[in-house]
Amino acid sequence: TSILILNGPNLNLLGTRQPEIYGRTTLLDIEKICRDKAADLSIDLEFFQSNHEGELVDIIHSARGKHHGIILNAGAYTHTSVALMDAISSVGLPAVELHLSNIHAREEFRHHSYIAKVALGVICGFGANGYILALDAMATHLETAK
Ligand code: DQA
Repeated sequence: TSILILNGPNLNLLGTRQPEIYGRTTLLDIEKICRDKAADLSIDLEFFQSNHEGELVDIIHSARGKHHGIILNAGAYTHTSVALMDAISSVGLPAVELHLSNIHAREEFRHHSYIAKVALGVICGFGANGYILALDAMATHLETAK
């Protein structure tokens, strides 16, 4: 079993970016936590970040035939990108939408998500621990879907 964790724009700045909202954990810390969790679950992991919408689309396309599921923190593209929503639908892989912050407790424009329309489910508001919750949720989904 192999899972892709994909991170969108500005998440490369985690640790120093608005720590009162996103915490002080860096993306590298999060990657390490995810790799430890994936090892516990005996799952292969690809962990990737890009600030470019088209590159995120390309990576989603390349997941077909390579990964069994996608965990996506699309950052601000969550609220704007029909292209990312379509990419998820196009590859037909199960996806979990993820956010560090509770997007529903924040500005109105963050309440709407294009990704949610094509996601198995959404995890938000649990900070870096959300990545662990998402891995557990995806692993359980893939196991029961077998
Ligand atoms: C985010 C929430 C988005 O609204 C925001 O644009 C981000 C990060 C989160 O993880 O909380 O860049 O996806």
